[in-house]
Amino acid sequence: MNFPGQLILFLVILFPFIDKSDGFLFKKTIKETLVALSSKVEERQPKEDKKSSLVLPWKLDKGTYESVVKLNFHGAPEMVAIRKNFAVNDNNMFVTAWITACLLEIQALGGEFKPKREQIDLALDAIGKYHDKNVNYNTSVMTFWPQLYNDTVKKWQSTPENLLQLFQLSDKFPVKSVEELLKLMGLGDIATVMDHLLHEKDMFAAAFHIPPDFDDTFVNIGLGSLLKEIPGYSDLFAKWQSTNSNLTSVLHALKRYAYRPHSNNTRVNTIDPRTYFYLHKFLAATNKTDAAFVPTWIQNVDEAMALSDKGVAMPFFVNNVDVTVAANTVNGLTSALLSGLFKPSDFDSDIQHIYKDTVDLIIYEITGNFSSRRDLALTYYPSKLECFWFTSRTLTILRDFYKKAPLPLKMLEDVLQKLEGAMRNKVTADILQEAIKSADGGIYFDDFLGDGDFDIKGNAIKYAEDRLFTTSMAVNTLINIWTSTEGDTLAFLNNTPSSVNETIQQSVKWLNDNILGTHLKPWNAFFSGSGKGQASLPFWYPANRKEYLNGTSFNDDMFPDGLFLVGFEGTLSDEQYNILLSQRHFGEKTPIDFPGFNPRGSPTGFFPFWSSDAYTYSTTMLAFAKYLKIK
Ligand SMILES: *[C@@H]1O[C@H](CO)[C@@H](O)[C@H](O)[C@H]1NC(C)=O
Ligand SMILES: *[C@@H]1O[C@H](CO)[C@@H](O)[C@H](O)[C@H]1NC(C)=O
Ligand SMILES: *[C@@H]1O[C@H](CO)[C@@H](O)[C@H](O)[C@H]1NC(C)=O
Ligand SMILES: *[C@@H]1O[C@H](CO)[C@@H](O)[C@H](O)[C@H]1NC(C)=O
Ligand SMILES: *[C@@H]1O[C@H](CO)[C@@H](O)[C@H](O)[C@H]1NC(C)=O
Ligand SMILES: *[C@@H]1O[C@H](CO)[C@@H](O)[C@H](O)[C@H]1NC(C)=O
Ligand SMILES: *[C@@H]1O[C@H](CO)[C@@H](O)[C@H](O)[C@H]1NC(C)=O
Ligand SMILES: *[C@@H]1O[C@H](CO)[C@@H](O)[C@H](O)[C@H]1NC(C)=O
Repeated sequence: MNFPGQLILFLVILFPFIDKSDGFLFKKTIKETLVALSSKVEERQPKEDKKSSLVLPWKLDKGTYESVVKLNFHGAPEMVAIRKNFAVNDNNMFVTAWITACLLEIQALGGEFKPKREQIDLALDAIGKYHDKNVNYNTSVMTFWPQLYNDTVKKWQSTPENLLQLFQLSDKFPVKSVEELLKLMGLGDIATVMDHLLHEKDMFAAAFHIPPDFDDTFVNIGLGSLLKEIPGYSDLFAKWQSTNSNLTSVLHALKRYAYRPHSNNTRVNTIDPRTYFYLHKFLAATNKTDAAFVPTWIQNVDEAMALSDKGVAMPFFVNNVDVTVAANTVNGLTSALLSGLFKPSDFDSDIQHIYKDTVDLIIYEITGNFSSRRDLALTYYPSKLECFWFTSRTLTILRDFYKKAPLPLKMLEDVLQKLEGAMRNKVTADILQEAIKSADGGIYFDDFLGDGDFDIKGNAIKYAEDRLFTTSMAVNTLINIWTSTEGDTLAFLNNTPSSVNETIQQSVKWLNDNILGTHLKPWNAFFSGSGKGQASLPFWYPANRKEYLNGTSFNDDMFPDGLFLVGFEGTLSDEQYNILLSQRHFGEKTPIDFPGFNPRGSPTGFFPFWSSDAYTYSTTMLAFAKYLKIK
């Protein structure tokens, strides 16, 4: 018997299996993967504060799930290298809130797998620190970044310490000589990019000192609502309640800061010119003289101008409307009403009015290709499927509630019906159309991260860095749209198309085959800066309100020295607006079309985005947990 021969035979047999280590031999069941993912999520939540050190340059806050700020460089290999390697840890409220929301939804399903209470507990302590401190009463108005007190200006300022540290570092950096060196090495594009980055440094730095926002605020309300409903979680709900003793503060804020395009009040009728650009058709189509929508920031133009030098101001000093923020707001309001956190009487006619108009806006955009300007309509959340998922969460809770009892407000019946129509038809068709069959029988979904690159020879390469995340979003959305709770299980609705069932089955299979592998990144671009490169800065869009921060208006088509505001006030007829569209703004033509998130041959077409592995893992956990509940 020839021993080595046997060994070779053994290896030949084993090799194909080893090669597919996340395929055949070590294939995990969905339940096993769920458990493995939960450890990965847990590892990414620091149990203690971690100071920056030589080993780890970034500060990590206790209880705050890890996320990083990256830059979406794309194209040539050296650009790809920057995208892949540049990452600054960021401590913010909403990554933690979203991951916790996923874990709570899993707990609420009552399946076999249970998230750890300790993680929820740590997260609640962390989130409890994000209440706005610039008021002298308890508020549930929340901020994205931690606030630090600035004794000089007597204000609490939003302070992303790691990002600020990076900017301070660049002050000491020999920029010019590095740029020259890069050019000599044939890396002129990187030099151009560096030049742009540093040129815009002050703009970036100003964009850090932001006011509170409706997104974080209503995501927190949604969390409280979830906690309230989970049996056995009353102590955790009590913890949440102890920092949320004045819930109506968020409703007051909503009424005060709603965007009211037809109002004659200049505090609330002015919006980012990019918002007006994508909303113009919707405003004209609905033609309501009293329309009101939730904006992003909890601040108005007057306050931004007054507080700018105190370091508490909206970027560009003007508010905007983001369809995803709107979806989160509607979810927060709806879940709080259904769970009893809010009473129907808390929803006065103005709140109901803002709620209904905002729902109409969301439906118009999700069924209308986001007015062909996904980059502007999804101002901060570039992922379309993420917006669909957030919207589908509201459909699910309304539908499940209505099966058992009348909705607490009559108008919600209409909202439920409209959401059903939009999500079952256009949105489902849109998702199914994007499904991609993989060679091994599964189905996956791609978005844009890592999909605009090429190698040295100029051949396109697809790194599909957000494929795992995007696929988890698709599964969660389809399950939410097409199943409802029946006792202890989820059941497909009557008339669920078989293509929906198949897509869910195949996507879950694909996710289970790939989520624990190392060949695909668990990255996402779940959040981003509002500008997706030079072309999507607000200055190039029609604006009819240009002011210095002292309130004096100007009309020149040249950038003034110092800080200024560019906004769109009121509304215009199609005819009048079209005239403005054909004009130049600060010397530039209106950027009518969206060139995609990876425009070719544009080294300055990069933008900052937030990525969180823990978020991808937790949305996948939720998709699996829901899938396992389908009977
Ligand atoms: C704010 O909430 C804390 C804790 O719930 C409470 O002790 C305090 O009295 C409240 N302050 C005001 C002004 O209501
Ligand atoms: C609740 O918030 C409102 C502002 O929305 C404020 O006027 C009021 O004083 C707060 N109430 C308490 C008890 O803190
Ligand atoms: C603004 O509108 C309100 C009612 O909507 C009206 O009472 C007021 O006179 C208007 N003000 C101006 C300056 O037009
Ligand atoms: C919008 O409504 C106003 C009155 O509310 C009406 O005068 C105007 O013609 C309408 N515009 C369109 C485009 O329907
Ligand atoms: C306090 O705020 C002012 C105005 O934003 C700023 O210039 C100053 O650097 C801040 N001080 C500290 C210690 O952050
Ligand atoms: C949707 O919008 C994108 C730009 O965001 C555009 O490229 C695409 O053609 C549009 N699709 C449809 C069906 O209108
Ligand atoms: C969904 O697909 C699975 C697998 O193909 C099948 O077993 C199941 O019966 C289908 N469910 C419905 C409701 O069609
Ligand atoms: C407002 O600021 C601009 C630009 O700094 C200046 O030219 C103008 O005189 C100021 N207006 C007033 C009323 O102070």
